[in-house]
Amino acid sequence: MDAYAADIEKVLVSAEEIQAKLAQMGEQITKDYTGKSLLLVGVLKGAFVVMADLSRQIGLPLEFDFMAVSSYGAATKTSGVVRILKDLDHDLKDRDVLIVEDIIDSGLTLKYLLKSLAGRKPASLEVAALLRKKGIQQVELDLRYVGFDIPNEFVVGYGLDFAERYRNLPYVGTLKPQAYEGL
Ligand code: XMP
Ligand code: MG
Repeated sequence: MDAYAADIEKVLVSAEEIQAKLAQMGEQITKDYTGKSLLLVGVLKGAFVVMADLSRQIGLPLEFDFMAVSSYGAATKTSGVVRILKDLDHDLKDRDVLIVEDIIDSGLTLKYLLKSLAGRKPASLEVAALLRKKGIQQVELDLRYVGFDIPNEFVVGYGLDFAERYRNLPYVGTLKPQAYEGL
């Protein structure tokens, strides 16, 4: 963590804030799905951290699956192109499915995923996202659980990377300009 500290410009959401929010979100999810079991679908790679922490705040039987899509690569701007790199192992038919996302930016990735997964006839399909960038969603999305609305800046940490680094930071922050130049 210390190895990254010098690269961080500012902390947008602290580790404590994230954990408190996930505890709340987990409690709400536990209430909303009482008596059911849930299939959590994480969108790799960014969501693996929120998936791990959120799931441990949910008091229900859970199963896990992951899917990998590409929309960003190593660049910092959304391309609008979504490709499935790894599909799910589970059959979604009649399952209660909760997609877990790290961040909603333009919303294009999620819109694509929702459409694709809805076609597999789950009993329900909802979204839990830790972060949402304010005011720039290009598409209308119905997000059941959202952690934090953040400014439209490129962020790293808590699963989010720049060139595959910074995912293990326990908080979400912005990078100093020189951190981009170093890579
Ligand atoms: P869209 O625009 O389709 O993009 O909603 C969502 C995906 O883009 C990535 N993303 C980011 N990754 N810092 C990152 O490290 C960011 O600020 C950022 N904004 C978007 C992320 O993979 C997300 O799932
Ligand atoms: Mg990335």
